[in-house]
Amino acid sequence: MTQRVWNFAAGPATLPLPVLEEAQRDLLALPGVGASVLEISHRSKHFDDILSEAEANLRKLLNIPDHYHVLFLQGGASLQFSMVPMNLLGDGSADYIITGYWGQKALKEAQLLGKVRIVWDGKAENFTRTPRPDEYTIDPNARYVHFTSNETIQGVMFQTEPEVGDVPLVCDMSSNFLWAPIDVSKYGLIYAGAQKNVGPAGVTIVIVRDDLVRRAPDNLPTMLSYRVHAENKSVYNTPPVFAIYIVMLVTRWLLNTIGGLERMAEINREKARLLYEVIDQSNGFYRGHAHPEHRSTMNVTWRLPNEELEKKFLQEAQANGLHELKGHRSVGGCRASIYNGMPIEGVRALREFMLEFMYRHA
Ligand SMILES: Cc1ncc(COP(=O)(O)O)c(C=O)c1O
Repeated sequence: MTQRVWNFAAGPATLPLPVLEEAQRDLLALPGVGASVLEISHRSKHFDDILSEAEANLRKLLNIPDHYHVLFLQGGASLQFSMVPMNLLGDGSADYIITGYWGQKALKEAQLLGKVRIVWDGKAENFTRTPRPDEYTIDPNARYVHFTSNETIQGVMFQTEPEVGDVPLVCDMSSNFLWAPIDVSKYGLIYAGAQKNVGPAGVTIVIVRDDLVRRAPDNLPTMLSYRVHAENKSVYNTPPVFAIYIVMLVTRWLLNTIGGLERMAEINREKARLLYEVIDQSNGFYRGHAHPEHRSTMNVTWRLPNEELEKKFLQEAQANGLHELKGHRSVGGCRASIYNGMPIEGVRALREFMLEFMYRHA
């Protein structure tokens, strides 16, 4: 099959078509270089230009203040579950807000390394919402507060940052990084695996405030220290060059073709609205997992009246070119991941299919 389908996978996920086309066009020889990006040294001027542009684009898109480092690391967001406590926890304690599957995973790794407090846990409510500020109390002496801005599996998203006073806020932003503008200065550290909204698997972006970088203990294994990666500008060892190259192209596309994150957010809100409207107007045929005020603009999760219809829905969707809509086993039902790279036409096609399926089966 060479024709592209509408791919609603949760990650790795659909990338902007112009980015794939450019990467394909230049795969054998980067303009002005005469060799593939896969073949050039990570210490060459050519790669340095790619890395510098990727960082500059991110700084511009998010208005990242100068006292924050932008790092390109490996090991996925999952390694950040460990690197964060290894670098920031010391002999202190950290607060964790748990709103879904990935927050639980982050918590488990931190518990292996030191003292951790759960300040709010949505498990009893089946992870359908984020907490109100009056539902949790932050320890003012905590070394940091960790939360997951968008729970990819449940489709539950914080609409604003949790209130944590002066305690550094650490965020797993893997599945909604760059979906809309944010105020980076509210955060101590942001990390995001690239393979949802910004590129292919293999690179994890970390944005971290300088004073936190300096907290890294001296006896940490070298590759696990933020300080080492910051001092070496992400090339302490060979970085994932191809993944960084794609991140550079995606961020360039966001700046030049989309026109920045305000515009990207408008498009993303409209895409999400198109699907949630069908769910809300379906008289209960489609049932959204997340409470409406806590819904994700990136991962739309819903159930059908029974598992048999869900199976039929997924089969027929696939036959209609709408792929990867099966929900995670822990939630069941369906999930449409509609990251930045998913064009609105793909969402419209899914919406039409959902309506048509409902008319036939409701
Ligand atoms: C919110 C969130 N955090 C962490 C991860 C794990 O990322 P990785 O596979 O890059 O370790 C994922 C992956 O799906 C995710 O959605």
